[in-house]
Amino acid sequence: LNYRHVHHAGNFADLVKHAVLLHLLAAATARAQPLFLLDTHAGAGVYALADSRTGEAAAGVARLMDRRAPAVFDPLKRAVTRLNGGGPVRSYPGSPRLIADALRPADEYVACELRPDDHAQLQRTLAGAPAEALRADGYLAVRNLLPVGHANALVLIDPPYERGDEYAQAVAAVGAALARSPVAQVCLWAPLKDLETFDRLVRELEALDPPDLLLVECRLRPLIDPLKLNGCALALVNAPAELEPGFADIADWTAEVLGDPGGEGRVWRA
Ligand SMILES: C[S@@+](CC[C@H](N)C(=O)[O-])C[C@H]1O[C@@H](n2cnc3c(N)ncnc32)[C@H](O)[C@@H]1O
Repeated sequence: LNYRHVHHAGNFADLVKHAVLLHLLAAATARAQPLFLLDTHAGAGVYALADSRTGEAAAGVARLMDRRAPAVFDPLKRAVTRLNGGGPVRSYPGSPRLIADALRPADEYVACELRPDDHAQLQRTLAGAPAEALRADGYLAVRNLLPVGHANALVLIDPPYERGDEYAQAVAAVGAALARSPVAQVCLWAPLKDLETFDRLVRELEALDPPDLLLVECRLRPLIDPLKLNGCALALVNAPAELEPGFADIADWTAEVLGDPGGEGRVWRA
């Protein structure tokens, strides 16, 4: 557990993931049934950008807040503004802060985090929210805590990909979520380094025979150098079709404005 999200908070990949998450949440919380949301890899929930060793937020959220962006980014911009009291952007909200603020009183949120320090901060982030912050393995939580047959469930799987078997674990978790609730919406984040690794992930997800599989890719540059984080992708199952134009706006804007020449967004069904 060496990965520290604080060093990457507010980077381009967080913007893509969090804008997509908030777009999914707006639709899921417009349904009559209460939402059950499981966040398998929750992190600390809020990050002080001064604690980052990489300064990635300067090329991410700082630019988002400075520039015109499609309306689908508005909820994320509002959340950043709110967290910073309308002043300069010194803190960035992680998925727990964004989710807790979007939920209705009858909705349920379970957030899992294994690192003791990030879990302690997660508990502080979620204090007072209708949420549980568990120091637990998110992959096990999918198998044990996702309510069977729930009609309005959303599972966010956002692993650090620091272990060799992380792709296999993530794919198995998608399968486990769908086994418990075939209509659950699943949102799996993945890095884009080389095409072969990403292709394999998509093939393994297809082999689960999900009801549908939508890929939202943000390529900052052509995937030529496999040692670089060249972009990111979200694999979505059971995402409402009417959200696709918003997903395309998120991927396109991020690739065009934060990427290199040759970067591009892609939204496609496998
Ligand atoms: C990419 S970060 C999460 C970021 C968060 N989802 C967000 O968007 O703000 C991944 C987190 O997962 C935690 N982690 C790693 N393996 C885990 C596991 N098996 N179960 C739960 N948490 C885990 C790491 O400590 C790290 O904080």
